[in-house]
Amino acid sequence: MCVAPDAECAARWVADEIESLVRGAAAPVLGLATGSTPLGVYRELARRAAAGLSFARLTTFNLDEYLGLAPDHPASFRAYVERHVVQPLGLDPRRVHLPPSDVDGARADEAALAYERAIQAAGGIDLLLLGVGPNGHLAFNEPGSERDSRTRVVELAPETRAANARDFPAGEEVPRRAITMGIATILEARALRVLAFGAHKADVVARALEGPVGPAVPASFLRGHADVRVLLDPPAARALTHR
Ligand code: GLP
Repeated sequence: MCVAPDAECAARWVADEIESLVRGAAAPVLGLATGSTPLGVYRELARRAAAGLSFARLTTFNLDEYLGLAPDHPASFRAYVERHVVQPLGLDPRRVHLPPSDVDGARADEAALAYERAIQAAGGIDLLLLGVGPNGHLAFNEPGSERDSRTRVVELAPETRAANARDFPAGEEVPRRAITMGIATILEARALRVLAFGAHKADVVARALEGPVGPAVPASFLRGHADVRVLLDPPAARALTHR
């Protein structure tokens, strides 16, 4: 765990690691989170791309995607990643992976299995960016998700749907289901970089880092990983006993 002077500084540290990965690996694979938290990292990477850093060989896998949205819906994670990552970094669209948002029933279950296989076929994830939901969720692994869970179809918790309503046009329902990488899938990434900023994350950060490890707080499972770094700003760290 590491408390940065501020969120911009934490974003630069993570961007430095991603730059080293992109420069050093023959076939770098990065896992991407959505939400407001990683936007500073994506802005910093965009700045470096504009200054000449090439991301042409980078393969990406997003953590999760809603079900029941057209891929070009402005609140889909596909649209988010196009806007904040693919275009500004100049990624090769053939190397950009998200679970599909426009499948249903057995096809959604098959898509989840195929996503898991695609991550393995790419050689696994070198570095995976993560945020933490206010209820302790990781990607869309809501409370109750087990340590051995894999990429699958999940029901979203009411508090997650309420929090994410900000991304949807007024009056439009937030999807009830999603496909998410599982906890076991996430823990197989070679390095995890977890970001949490702001006083509204202080309680969940303390529960994840200092409370019991278990499905009540899925983010607590991160503590079992050999190369995990949790990057906080001072407000997000304020409920921790040990800093
Ligand atoms: C979303 C995502 C998570 C993300 C979380 C926190 O629902 N599925 O991967 O970490 O919410 O969002 P924010 O960064 O906006 O606080």
